[in-house]
Amino acid sequence: MRVLITGGAGFIGSHTAVSLIEQGNEVVIVDSLVNSAPDVVERIHTITGVRPAFYGFDVRDEDELDRVFAEAVPDAVIHFAGLKAVGESVANPLEYYSHNIDAIFSVLRVMQRHGVGRLVFSSSATVYGDNQPSPYTESGGLLEATNPYGQSKVMQERILVDVARADPSMSVALLRYFNPIGAHPSGLIGEDPSGIPNNIAPFITRVAIGQLPEVSIFGDDYDTADGTGERDYVHVMDLAEGHVAALRAITQSPGIRAWNLGTGTPTSVLQLIAAFERATGRQIPRRMTGRRPGDLARVWASTALAERELDWRATRSIDEMAADAWRWQSKNPHGYASPPSGDGAVH
Ligand code: NAD
Ligand code: WQD
Repeated sequence: MRVLITGGAGFIGSHTAVSLIEQGNEVVIVDSLVNSAPDVVERIHTITGVRPAFYGFDVRDEDELDRVFAEAVPDAVIHFAGLKAVGESVANPLEYYSHNIDAIFSVLRVMQRHGVGRLVFSSSATVYGDNQPSPYTESGGLLEATNPYGQSKVMQERILVDVARADPSMSVALLRYFNPIGAHPSGLIGEDPSGIPNNIAPFITRVAIGQLPEVSIFGDDYDTADGTGERDYVHVMDLAEGHVAALRAITQSPGIRAWNLGTGTPTSVLQLIAAFERATGRQIPRRMTGRRPGDLARVWASTALAERELDWRATRSIDEMAADAWRWQSKNPHGYASPPSGDGAVH
């Protein structure tokens, strides 16, 4: 299958490109590089032996996207492209809504014009807001996120439901990711947030490598086993394989369906730090601070539907996630700005 991946140079997109290529698919990447580096494509080539076609532009440019569809003739689209920083979305909701919604409109219009009906969409557990207890199930009630970024995912899901209903030949997967972490085991691709990371795993690896002084633990008085927040961390390669499984499922039957991609297992902040201490062999300085506004105590997935309908389950452990994230960080202390063979300041 020829798969066009928007945002394919990003964290999840690049790993998905690797999985798709390894499963014998052809990959075409469209990415504006607003949150990624051009090097990624060469590194995908190094891992897989195949260099995916790459087009560097913003998917909101419908004319350009039209041209790429005409040239590449994709059988399916995976839409990762979008802005994803929760805090920025609260500070600048207009930019977030307009960017993310304009992007899906552009992708859908171009797909329609070219008769492409298969779409896998990057959604998020954030669409569940705080409306149901963990484990979250796909059918568990109203979708309502607690911030503009998350709400833009709710809106995009809604738009996709209506568009798919109006066109019975469409086949759409809404994939609700929990907390993707880790990296490809080669250490060649991984998560490379610019500035100070918002998410905990890249924050921990930057503390471990000595670029940041300590991990702030956002609250130790939650109603959880050790008082710190619990999340469903899922290895990015498991997530990548989930996309391949979803493509297979939507190719077999049309319609629109949502699936959770998580492990079904909660891990606390303290347990996650302990896993990184095992992986790095280093003590990770930490300090208890207050709760971060808007954080939930416990978030994990019910994975039953994905297991049954996608025949997919996450298999990699929290120790594997930490080891792979650390390999990526230590081989690339400055992310994609590091020389490809750099083994970093970790001796
Ligand atoms: P990322 O920022 O690493 O990847 C997104 C990629 O899209 C980047 O390479 C960026 O340059 C590109 N991009 C952004 N807007 C674009 C546009 N208009 N046109 C073309 N390219 C554009 O993020 P990620 O973590 O890989 O996330 C991928 C998708 O998954 C996003 O939609 C995100 O909202 C969603 N998601 C991520 C997480 C997470 O924790 N990482 C969780 C749930 C959902
Ligand atoms: C995880 C846990 C924090 C940082 C966010 C988005 C969500 C999704 C994934 C896209 C929580 C704690 C964190 C730190 C800490 N993205 N923490 N110290 O908040 O579950 O989800 O990313 O859709 O939309 O909201 O992930 O990695 O920020 O936090 O103690 O420095 O770690 O309180 O319990 P979160 P996270």
